Amino acid sequence: MNNQSKDVMLVKISPNRDPEWVSAFKEVLPDLEIRVWPFVGDPKEINLALLWDPPDELFSTVGGLDVIFSVGAGVDHLIECSEIPTDVPIVRMIDVDLTAGMVEYILYHVLRIHRNMDSYFEQNLKRQWAVLPYKPANELCVGIMGVGELGSAVASSLHTLGYQVQGWSRTPKSLPGIQSLFGISQLSSFLAETNILVILLPLTNATTGIISLDRLMELPLGSYVINAGRGLLIVEDDLLLALELGHISGAALDVFGNEPLPVTHKFWTNEKVFVTPHIASLTNPATAVASIAKNIKRHKEGATMKGLIDINDYR
Ligand code: GLV
Repeated sequence: MNNQSKDVMLVKISPNRDPEWVSAFKEVLPDLEIRVWPFVGDPKEINLALLWDPPDELFSTVGGLDVIFSVGAGVDHLIECSEIPTDVPIVRMIDVDLTAGMVEYILYHVLRIHRNMDSYFEQNLKRQWAVLPYKPANELCVGIMGVGELGSAVASSLHTLGYQVQGWSRTPKSLPGIQSLFGISQLSSFLAETNILVILLPLTNATTGIISLDRLMELPLGSYVINAGRGLLIVEDDLLLALELGHISGAALDVFGNEPLPVTHKFWTNEKVFVTPHIASLTNPATAVASIAKNIKRHKEGATMKGLIDINDYR
């Protein structure tokens, strides 16, 4: 940290969410001065930033940052800024409520798909009483791409419910009760065993477009896709084609290459696609600010901050 006595945090999230962040900071860190972009005051006084999707000019305006915090688990919205300083630590959000929200979102969709809830919804509309068969959970394999902070919590909850769970990641992982595969060389074997594919990978150069038509065709016939990572992990036109071919039975998509999803996009009208507006897990200011406070303390003490990323993993 710099030697100034007072820390000053710049907040840039979204105009309708910024006020609740300011209140949460006041509650947890009353001595921290908060400035809300674009009202920076004297930019030289700002040494911390909490950001979502910042404009490039933010980094040319505020030059002396000690730490950049991402309000989300993903940091791609920061890394893609051409002006982002490469010598300032970047910290992704790791927070109990953020993890819980993602677990809820994925469990909801796995259970909806597994227990035919879309068909029962249709039957409700027609006042139709018809029993649909379903397999026991232990005969369904949920494959999770990305088993870091969020993916491992999702994997463990699905395992507790009795699903077969396997994970795929860039580097080897060891999770109790979960078959872990890693690296491109094991991706085909992973996909071949997966009935419900959950995508929670970070968006990096290496993962952009990782789910293309040939990968989707490696999933068993009738599989489902749930994407709560980033839209660009999937080649969206390829997913539409795999749905049209009937190889993929349905998709739950929370993230898109272009957000908000344009009203003319085919995902909106495809009855096999369940669209949500990037809400799988919303960061809760009350708990997240407490996580940030702990990281500021760690940084001042020279300890490693939780969620510190290596920019080279993304480029
Ligand atoms: C949301 O997209 C996040 O990065 O947490």
